[in-house]
Amino acid sequence: MNSSLSTVMQCGYYDNGVCRSCTLMGTPYDAQISSKDAHARALLAAYPSAQWLPAMLSRPEAFRNKAKMVVGGTIEAPTLGILDATQHGVDLSACGILETGLRAAFDPIKAFITAARIPPYDVANRRGELKNVLLTQSATGELMVRFVLRSTEALSRMQKHLPNLLPALPQLAVVTANLLPEHKAVVEGDEEVLLAGDETLAMRLGEHVLHLRPASFFQTNTDIAKALYDQAREWIDEAEAHNVWDLYCGVGGFALHVAAPGRKVHGVEVSQPAVESARLSAAEAGLADVTFAVGDATGLNAETTIDAIIVNPPRRGLGDKLCATLEATKAETIVYSSCNAVTLARDLEMLPSYAAERIRLFDMFPQTDHYEIMVLLTRRN
Ligand SMILES: C[S@@+](CC[C@H](N)C(=O)[O-])C[C@H]1O[C@@H](n2cnc3c(N)ncnc32)[C@H](O)[C@@H]1O
Repeated sequence: MNSSLSTVMQCGYYDNGVCRSCTLMGTPYDAQISSKDAHARALLAAYPSAQWLPAMLSRPEAFRNKAKMVVGGTIEAPTLGILDATQHGVDLSACGILETGLRAAFDPIKAFITAARIPPYDVANRRGELKNVLLTQSATGELMVRFVLRSTEALSRMQKHLPNLLPALPQLAVVTANLLPEHKAVVEGDEEVLLAGDETLAMRLGEHVLHLRPASFFQTNTDIAKALYDQAREWIDEAEAHNVWDLYCGVGGFALHVAAPGRKVHGVEVSQPAVESARLSAAEAGLADVTFAVGDATGLNAETTIDAIIVNPPRRGLGDKLCATLEATKAETIVYSSCNAVTLARDLEMLPSYAAERIRLFDMFPQTDHYEIMVLLTRRN
């Protein structure tokens, strides 16, 4: 992985107090890793015999594959970034943690906003149309751009001016409008209208292609996502698992990576569009033994035919009900990938039949104190 431990990233937005999201900005990268490592080791101190593998490092800069930009300013001079304390737009379009293809897209998008006369939403006065612009960059540089709008008022003008945006951003693969009529503090609404391109952004990770639909979750840092999936594959192969569950499977990254001849993999995910994407990816790859279901992982019944389980929950973790189900499956192996070591440590206490054998930190979120951590658990005899 392309990383330099001595890198100290500097950010004018941070230094000027304009944006403080990256709480470790200005801290040398090696010190960031040491502090995350110490944090994780303190939380997982109850497992002294676990082997800690070397942390998987990231590019410290330009690693984020998605940008959630709040739109402010005016039609003539839109801002893409955040709102300040007075609800006015602050432009962050040179944000250095974003992949360079995302940053390069902001000027053409601003020109499009101006040309299509889309008024930025004014939060204080509840006027205007364009609330957010959400971008995702694929591993091969294609872009998904979503315009989050208060109503359909600007849609026809957007459609009229799109032919000018497409040549300016030839890497645009998916362009949608997302409708968020309510005045509330959420990033996007439920309704999505495809304006141009395909229904999914193809995220190629090595030999696998994951299809991302507009509202589906995908890991923030593409290189680290690939490293996570490869690590899980290695551990599941070592376990020689034949029946694998991938719980909280999203668009199927783990499931597709651990697929192998003679192995059945079943993913469970609450989001219907994510499951549709996962099924499409498995079908394209000809993986008939990789199946997916829409459902609540915490409502599963224990199945004793399962010999390995991958779990990758949101920050809240698994909780007592699912931990009890995992215990009852009697699976030999659990691979737990977590973005919150606090809930991970809590959940491990509720899995007393399992011993933490290997642990690895994955630096998914440089410049912040967040990280992903993956634990290989094996059933005690
Ligand atoms: C951290 S993401 C992991 C996604 C996937 N494993 C990946 O690598 O991209 C957590 C996922 O859990 C899903 N989710 C949240 N609550 C759930 C539940 N109760 N049951 C099943 N899936 C759930 C979310 O929609 C999201 O896709």
